[in-house]
Amino acid sequence: MNKYLNQSSKQYFAFNIWSIESAKAVIDGCANYGNDALLQTSMKAYGKLDKKELRQFVTSYSAKRGIKGYLHLDHCKEMSAIKEAIDFGWDSVMIDASDRPLYQNIEQTNHVVDYAHERGVLVEAEIGQINGETGVASYEDVCLFAEQTDVDLLAVAIGTAHGLYHGTPILDFDLLERVIGSVQTPLVIHGGTGLEDDVFLKLLRYEQVKKINISTDVKMSYREAIRKAMEDELFQIEGFDPLKVVDYIQTEIRTMVEYKQELLKRGIVHE
Ligand code: 13P
Repeated sequence: MNKYLNQSSKQYFAFNIWSIESAKAVIDGCANYGNDALLQTSMKAYGKLDKKELRQFVTSYSAKRGIKGYLHLDHCKEMSAIKEAIDFGWDSVMIDASDRPLYQNIEQTNHVVDYAHERGVLVEAEIGQINGETGVASYEDVCLFAEQTDVDLLAVAIGTAHGLYHGTPILDFDLLERVIGSVQTPLVIHGGTGLEDDVFLKLLRYEQVKKINISTDVKMSYREAIRKAMEDELFQIEGFDPLKVVDYIQTEIRTMVEYKQELLKRGIVHE
């Protein structure tokens, strides 16, 4: 049941993937540091993926690399998709009812928790919206939510946002510390792309911060790889080799993942 929360001190960067290839690059990056891999599927990617194939690949390739590979369903609002992901062997699911009034968020989360826990699956929920806009959750709401639900992971809005930041985000560390002082639930930070290294290291100093989500950076690595491949004239018709382009993509994503593993190593102060 504890899945990737089984070691109290373990912290993760969770990377969004959209294909077997992107999953492989992330697993390689984590495995090169001896860390388990936490892979997330957005609802958009989840809808397009062959779930059985991805599950089998993540399990078998991670085992081959000597680590565990976990699958997480990111930002889901539909119970049917949550049930399906659980059936396909996803290790954790996120019920995102953060756009609903608090009591509805609590109600829906509890519904998912009941279903998922019976099947040994972890549940993440969100409080305060973390979409394209930076914003912060209400401390009182977070406390009430944690008290009235049995979620395994709680994404609390502290000023991060999904996507690329325009300017430097200001994170509400006071709120984070107040929450940590009152609530035991492991915490998740969304919107990891674009945060400075010292911000990551500061976040990782809090043992209760278990998971930091990275999505845009994975996509940007993919984009950068193609840009480099074009710059290196790999797209000439004569002698075009898709395998070389794939190599660029794998290397770029893996290097970004490794950089984050390096931060994890530097951030470990709890062991
Ligand atoms: P970024 O796209 O900003 O990295 O955010 C990822 C995320 O939080 C996914 O849930």
